[in-house]
Amino acid sequence: MDPSQDNPIIRFKAFFWALAVFGFFGLLLAVIALNNRKAPPSLEDVVAVKRYETRAKVDADQQANFSYKMVEEGKTVQVPPHDVFAHVGKVLSQSKPAAVERPECVIPGSPTQKKMEAEAANAAPVVIKENDANAPIDPAVMEAGKTSFAICMACHGPEGNGVAGLAPPLAGSEWVVGPVENPIRIVLRGLGGPLSVKGLDYNLPAPMVAAAYLTDDQIASVLTYVRNSFGNKASAVTADQVKAYRGEVGQPALKATDLKAPK
Ligand code: HEC
Repeated sequence: MDPSQDNPIIRFKAFFWALAVFGFFGLLLAVIALNNRKAPPSLEDVVAVKRYETRAKVDADQQANFSYKMVEEGKTVQVPPHDVFAHVGKVLSQSKPAAVERPECVIPGSPTQKKMEAEAANAAPVVIKENDANAPIDPAVMEAGKTSFAICMACHGPEGNGVAGLAPPLAGSEWVVGPVENPIRIVLRGLGGPLSVKGLDYNLPAPMVAAAYLTDDQIASVLTYVRNSFGNKASAVTADQVKAYRGEVGQPALKATDLKAPK
């Protein structure tokens, strides 16, 4: 008889193998299960989750209830808070550089300045109609002009006779009573360099600075006033005539040669 038939261990070899394999996989599964066992959430975790939820809700509420109003091209647009910076950046990048709005800030010789010069040279010359020199002058306009004349008086003197070393006279000046565009442009742009007034040659140390901050009405009235005071007699200046030259504001100060020759 085969001795192995007597050995139960050998007889049940397959059974023991199955037991060993089963046991091994069972142990493996147990180890994996133990490793994957979730620890109960800590108090910190619970609080953190709650905090994120609250934060998300507050953000959503803010977006729904607040938005920053921004004025863009005259209309008001609603911008959610988180977009404000992006929006401001967009508006800034689209807006014209400040230098173009303030030509005095343009760097001399820069491409911007050359472009602006070319544009100014190509612009059609302004032609305005002179008013009737014999038409009566509105006393209210003269009154308003006298008030604004305080500015001019500082340099040109209270009677418009000029101040030595500071400014030439306005009384009897061909620039004042001549073509109306001359005094308008002088006030809008300023005037510098050698200048002849009433047959006298001036070359003053400091130029006249522009007074373009005055309104069209104020410039019209002050020029009507100087053209009809101190013995001067010339047509009234209207706000429309001043407005016609507004486009020149910011260009460099005029020189006598830029002006229309007075007769
Ligand atoms: C800061 C001093 C100053 C002020 C203020 C001033 N001017 Fe002048 N003005 C001058 C100077 C300087 C000249 C001569 C510029 C030159 O030499 O090229 C002049 C020239 C003129 C001229 C041409 C020359 C002449 O005498 O006729 C007119 C017109 C004139 N100014 C009008 C005015 C008016 C109008 C105001 C007020 C709105 C005014 N000015 C304010 C300094 C000034």
